[in-house]
Amino acid sequence: MKPLRKAVLPVAGLGTRFLPATKAVAKEMLPVVDKPLIQYAVEEARAAGIEQFCMVTGRGKTALVEHFDIAFELEDTLRARGKHDALALLEGTQVEPGSMVTVRQQVPLGLGHAIWCARAFIGDDPFAILLPDDLVLSETPCLKQLADAYTETGGNVVAVTEVPRAHTNRYGILEIGRDDGRLVEVKGLVEKPLPDEAPSNLSIIGRYVLMPQVIAELSRMDRGAGGEVQLTDGMARLIGRQPFHGLRYEGRRFDCGDKAGFLEAQIAFALKHKDLAPAVRAFLRRYAND
Ligand code: G1P
Repeated sequence: MKPLRKAVLPVAGLGTRFLPATKAVAKEMLPVVDKPLIQYAVEEARAAGIEQFCMVTGRGKTALVEHFDIAFELEDTLRARGKHDALALLEGTQVEPGSMVTVRQQVPLGLGHAIWCARAFIGDDPFAILLPDDLVLSETPCLKQLADAYTETGGNVVAVTEVPRAHTNRYGILEIGRDDGRLVEVKGLVEKPLPDEAPSNLSIIGRYVLMPQVIAELSRMDRGAGGEVQLTDGMARLIGRQPFHGLRYEGRRFDCGDKAGFLEAQIAFALKHKDLAPAVRAFLRRYAND
């Protein structure tokens, strides 16, 4: 079994749900408290043993590349002024030289197509996918939980959680086989089924560990839900040929592609900051009483 060392970060989306904020700023650069979404994803991946990153970008996304580069003038100025605390804040933005590459998704044909664009990076290795819109607050980083499940099962693992039945048309949904309450055998996968057609209400969230064979399936370029090349459809074609499991991860997931979810994430993450929590608690109480 090959070790998991690679991660693909699809970041080509237009961020239409956050206009006008995302007119000139990539949505993955929007901060939750003090860090942009993309940095949470990279730090989570690192904590799971990931050493190589591929961002699938699009037009207007250069800030994402800049964010993980050395900002020589800024760092030099901070050093000269003795601002070591400020310098230390930049640590999480540093990556090993040569460990982060980008490819462009030239046309917005869907998540499956975005992953297929990273095929040269993936090669013959297992790889992780992190969708930076999905932020998970947990004891053990969510991708680390998946990486451990990969070691345990030797195959594909996706992070899953129960959603209200009325919301199945927003997610990839599992058809469930054997289920021990934590690991679920995946018997089928459907992208965004209507509530009364969904095989369950167990949905995929934006964390995956996949085998490289999914690329051959995606290269068929079959169009699925919404007329897009769906990752879910490519993954579904691996079922029965390779181990495929859902992992009910420990933690809370915030949909930061949605305004309410994004605001909730701000509060939940702010309450984890020792120096911010008291002030946040105090104003929450004030607003709750209004
Ligand atoms: C994508 C996937 C979907 C998954 C979701 C998780 O959908 O296609 O299967 O459940 O991410 O956030 P999107 O949110 O891009 O529509």
